[in-house]
Amino acid sequence: MKITGYISNLRENILIAREQGKAIVLIPTMGFLHYGHLAMVEDARKDDEDREKVYIIMSIFVNPLQFGKNEDFDRYPRNLVRDSTLAQEAGVDMLFVPSAKEMYPNGQSLTTINVTQISEILCGSKRPGHFKGVATVVSKLFNIVLPDLAYFGQKDYQQFVVISQVVKDLNIPVQLIAFPTVREHDGLAMSSRNSYLSSEERQQAPILYSSLQEGAVLIAENETNADVIKTKIIDRISKESKGKIEYVEVRNAHNLEQIEKIEGAVVISLAVQFGSTRLIDNIILEV
Ligand code: PAJ
Repeated sequence: MKITGYISNLRENILIAREQGKAIVLIPTMGFLHYGHLAMVEDARKDDEDREKVYIIMSIFVNPLQFGKNEDFDRYPRNLVRDSTLAQEAGVDMLFVPSAKEMYPNGQSLTTINVTQISEILCGSKRPGHFKGVATVVSKLFNIVLPDLAYFGQKDYQQFVVISQVVKDLNIPVQLIAFPTVREHDGLAMSSRNSYLSSEERQQAPILYSSLQEGAVLIAENETNADVIKTKIIDRISKESKGKIEYVEVRNAHNLEQIEKIEGAVVISLAVQFGSTRLIDNIILEV
């Protein structure tokens, strides 16, 4: 595995891989890698044991543009030594670890990508500017790497919908993969931010997924009222944990519009604050 912090060097290596006929795969991350990240590498590698066909680039960049003023940019966990070992073991070909200066040479980007409407709801209403930061950095990465394929986790489902919209609206020639959420044995969605949780918070956090699953069971038993599902989930989390609910929403999984009646592709999505840690999770159902 090669490591570089420089766009020019990354591009030189991509050019060589392309000349060798390899498909270019991009997996953007903010590092502090866990198996949720690494499973995407394994998936990209799975039909490619001879390493002949794909060239996997993982980026690690804690993007200042997507953090609000009072958010956790400074304390976001970072460990490049550990990350590079894990990335190499998983089968990454090139680790791209740019500095903020390499990505934003003027300290900021005068040009930004703003996806209206779907950036302003759910997590976007609590984190104004967050998805603009995400859409901008991911667009930059797409232009730097020109990948054939890019992986994003379903765990950050709204992020996936926003990026899909960018790709569609700006005709970016990349195929997006929405990778299923990888969970701990007790159901908690893996996240770099889980490292912030106290042991009591960690014990309570699996309530998020179990309450989502309870919602799914009710829907399987023919409950079609979105409010009923929402209320059940809110009650359960409030009763069984100290988590402070930011939102629980039942929405159309394609366009994130609010729905009253559960039908078609539906996402149940939530954000809950445990102490100073904000956790998100979701499930997608086809009804
Ligand atoms: P980060 O939180 O590091 O996540 C990197 C990628 O891994 C994202 O696509 C995310 O959805 C996916 N991911 C995280 N946890 C996962 C899990 N438990 N199962 C499956 N996939 C998971 O998301 C970001 O970074 C940033 O916003 C980024 C896209 C890199 C732009 O800065």
